[in-house]
Amino acid sequence: MKKTIFFTFFIIIAVACNNNDANYKETTDTSATYIKQGDSIVKITFDTLRNTLLKTIASKGLAGAVTFCNVEALPITAVYASAGITVSRVSDKNRNAKNALTEMDKIEWAKYIKQIANKDSLRAAIVYNNNEVHYYKPIIMQPMCLSCHGTTEKDIAKELLPVIDSLYPADKAKGYKAGELRGMWHIVFTKPMVDEK
Ligand code: HEC
Repeated sequence: MKKTIFFTFFIIIAVACNNNDANYKETTDTSATYIKQGDSIVKITFDTLRNTLLKTIASKGLAGAVTFCNVEALPITAVYASAGITVSRVSDKNRNAKNALTEMDKIEWAKYIKQIANKDSLRAAIVYNNNEVHYYKPIIMQPMCLSCHGTTEKDIAKELLPVIDSLYPADKAKGYKAGELRGMWHIVFTKPMVDEK
């Protein structure tokens, strides 16, 4: 049912938005529809991720759940992919090498760092690049994330550490505190929203 509502919404947006900017352009306030769409994808993906994590932690313990913090492995991600939407998370201190910041990501990242320094409220942003629409949203550390991304001696269990380090030998995603910027959601709408022909 949720999926039907989502795709109906998607089609309405597809008809309502006629965006074919050829050049790199950026805006934070004229793209309310994409923000709404991105926000709803983030919510569904995050809820699925959290539920999967909590369920797996309960049944297999933290060590068993360690690989489940991967949005691209969630079945919901495949549903989006079939609609031309990719969902990922990126970070300057990434655990998985494939979640490193790209050049475009770095521009958005720098803006969030600046907003934090200015004590501004962090908001989702839209970037138009050729026929793609990119949605970004900051990911803030929560207390439940500390057991895998917190301080080594304090938050991450002794028996969990070797599991993380053997799976991710180049891990940079430890040492965080709750409330810190952990990463960004990066959603790409790859299919043209309107058929131009
Ligand atoms: C059970 C351990 C565990 C918990 C709890 C956990 N993570 Fe992760 N996190 C991981 C692992 C493992 C990866 C690498 C996943 C992959 O291979 O893509 C990861 C990756 C990420 C990434 C992608 C960037 C990167 O570093 O590769 C972000 C962002 C992230 N986690 C944020 C969070 C947030 C926010 C929370 C709390 C809501 C959280 N994590 C809770 C283990 C965990």
